[in-house]
Amino acid sequence: MKSYEKLLLENKAWAKEKVSEDPKYFSKMAKIQTPEFLWIGCSDSRVPANEITGTKPGEIFVHRNVANMVVHTDLNLLTVLDYAVNHLKVKHVIVCGHYGCGGVKAALTNQNLGIINKWLRNIKDVYRIHKAELDGITDEEAKTDRLVELNVQEQVHDLAKTSIIQKTWKHEKRPDLHGWVYDIKDGLIKPVCEMNYKTKLDPIYGFNDL
Ligand code: CO
Repeated sequence: MKSYEKLLLENKAWAKEKVSEDPKYFSKMAKIQTPEFLWIGCSDSRVPANEITGTKPGEIFVHRNVANMVVHTDLNLLTVLDYAVNHLKVKHVIVCGHYGCGGVKAALTNQNLGIINKWLRNIKDVYRIHKAELDGITDEEAKTDRLVELNVQEQVHDLAKTSIIQKTWKHEKRPDLHGWVYDIKDGLIKPVCEMNYKTKLDPIYGFNDL
């Protein structure tokens, strides 16, 4: 059997199991989607959002990219964010990074990776903001892991800078923003920061007439 054929076979077995547990499982699922959470995570195959949080289909709206970035010109991210916040009306947005992130590691080098350089440059910018602290860490792994945490913090901050979040904070006092880091070595998530509608941003990022 080819490797991808196993996926299709597993899918059949999974669907059958779900129906045997609850004959209406798929007909109920098809009708409505009301997740309470938006998850912005890394594309890394070892960080599956549903599995590590024990959530079922329908419970988390998911966006993943390399190094869980919130890039303000990324139409994909902005579309997901707008849809989740304004249509699904999620209560929480979680940015979840992970220790040992390949994207963060690569950003700390001078390798020329072609088009990937452009994406990693956003992480290099986070490094530059926190250069004083990071350059004080001599162990390379510890330095990467600290940048993973700081990167998550910056991405949460980048969410708060968007008019999408600011407008909903002003009118509906949601969503809360969470920065988390998952540890591939023990499977545990460490919360690193939080922001909500009470958070005071630097005024330069505020918008009138929201
Ligand atoms: Co990663």
